[in-house]
Amino acid sequence: MSEKIIIFDTTLRDGEQSPGASLNVYEKLEIARQLTKLKVDVIEAGFPVSSPAQFEAVKRIADESEVIIAALARAKEIDIKTAFDALKNAKRPRIHTFSSTSDYHILGKFGHAKYGATLDEKRKIILQMSYDAVAYAKTFCYDVEFSAEDAGRTDIGYLADVIEIAIEAGATTVNIPDTVGYTFPSEYASKIQELKRRVKNIDKAVISVHCHNDLGLAVANSITALQFGARQVECTINGIGERAGNASLEEIVMALKVRKDLNDFYTDINHNEIISTSRMVSGFTGVVVQPNKAIVGENAFAHESGIHQDGMLKNRETYEIMTPESVGVNKTKIVLGRHSGRHGLKSRLNEIGYHPSDIELTRAYTAFLEIADKKKEVFDDDLRVLMGDEIYKEEELYVLKYMHVNAGTKTIPTATVQISFEDKVVQESSPGDGPVDAVFNAIERALGLKLTVESYNVRSVTSGRQALGEAIVRIRNGEESFNGRGSSTDIIEASAKAYLQAINHYLLLNGIKPDVFESCASGK
Ligand code: KIV
Ligand code: ZN
Repeated sequence: MSEKIIIFDTTLRDGEQSPGASLNVYEKLEIARQLTKLKVDVIEAGFPVSSPAQFEAVKRIADESEVIIAALARAKEIDIKTAFDALKNAKRPRIHTFSSTSDYHILGKFGHAKYGATLDEKRKIILQMSYDAVAYAKTFCYDVEFSAEDAGRTDIGYLADVIEIAIEAGATTVNIPDTVGYTFPSEYASKIQELKRRVKNIDKAVISVHCHNDLGLAVANSITALQFGARQVECTINGIGERAGNASLEEIVMALKVRKDLNDFYTDINHNEIISTSRMVSGFTGVVVQPNKAIVGENAFAHESGIHQDGMLKNRETYEIMTPESVGVNKTKIVLGRHSGRHGLKSRLNEIGYHPSDIELTRAYTAFLEIADKKKEVFDDDLRVLMGDEIYKEEELYVLKYMHVNAGTKTIPTATVQISFEDKVVQESSPGDGPVDAVFNAIERALGLKLTVESYNVRSVTSGRQALGEAIVRIRNGEESFNGRGSSTDIIEASAKAYLQAINHYLLLNGIKPDVFESCASGK
């Protein structure tokens, strides 16, 4: 009989830990709604104790969702209580608590003598902490997941003890993460098999897997673990996540569907929503999908060579193991033009998964009209990029009011920008190595900042000379990095907007207000 695989999406928690990815509460809400439309079983919405913004996002998602909403908590009372406070209005809350179990993690994180003098003593203390954390979480809700962090590198005997005690304390799901993406599929499979053999109460909980992609094996490991008895898989849209990312949801789901002949598994995922979800996550996080990425990459269904094209024309199955339509590719159509009204824009946005409030719709409509003015046809992908700009902004941000760039073969590129904040405007000019460098320098001068640009990419969103250009900039300040994204039919303007957006994320998250606005005159 076909068995169901539970899809646990952690895009909003582990995925948001991708370098530079930062989402505000409104963007998280939109992604959670889209994940619901995709029909994932569990949404891990965040780590409430880590910041007030995380708490708020988990709470808002929990308040309105029908699916299971999970919140992460270390094995500490304050984390667990805060996680439940955020989840308390959820129809189906899940507390997800975890302890570190590998020797690397135990010695690295629990070195202090209060956790015992020897490794053996430390292990005993962590065993007890795991039991207590699950038992405490159970006082708030029935559905409790326990993870043994770095299970991939944990001694099997100790791992079995921790898992057994967590189930004894009431864990309904036990997760075996390959936290550092270290294991090989055969090794991971033996781990799952061994746990099934050693843990006497294992049938009382669902076995879950959570694989990172450091060696490019996250999806292979996840699928192998399912074949050996796991029934929940933790994954993210586009495979985003810490370092090399997590196992990609779309790859796992489509692999199970396409190779049903090898595994009698099913998921409840609505495959037609895969592309929309992928584009939305990329748009909001600013994490670009590589063109050759399986399932959702730009080239995933492109056939370039003559032999392939010829084969495809004769019979699609010659070179295609699944259709682009099955993941929602052909849902992209020409939609709107400069005569389209606000209502038309709103209904198309709803169809592709966006639900802007009235204020957000006004911003989106103004931006849409600017694009439609320059470009005759506005495609769904244009709308997605537009929604990934500053439509869901939370506060009055630093806005690019005006930009002028002078560049050519025999001139030193120079740029002038005006940036506004509330009713104040600052203006600055600067030369640069090229027009983009000049405009970045002018923005830095205007705000009195100097930042490191870690990466900068420009691409055309759709085809043709009037295509919308999209720029993505990642800046770094010490340990932190921030992405910004901007779009325009003019790629220099797109770059300026992207840079300013990255700066806005940095300033807002750190509560910094540039001094320049204190002294300057009102621009009204
Ligand atoms: O990778 C990991 O181990 C995690 C746990 C917190 C589940 O993300
Ligand atoms: Zn993880």
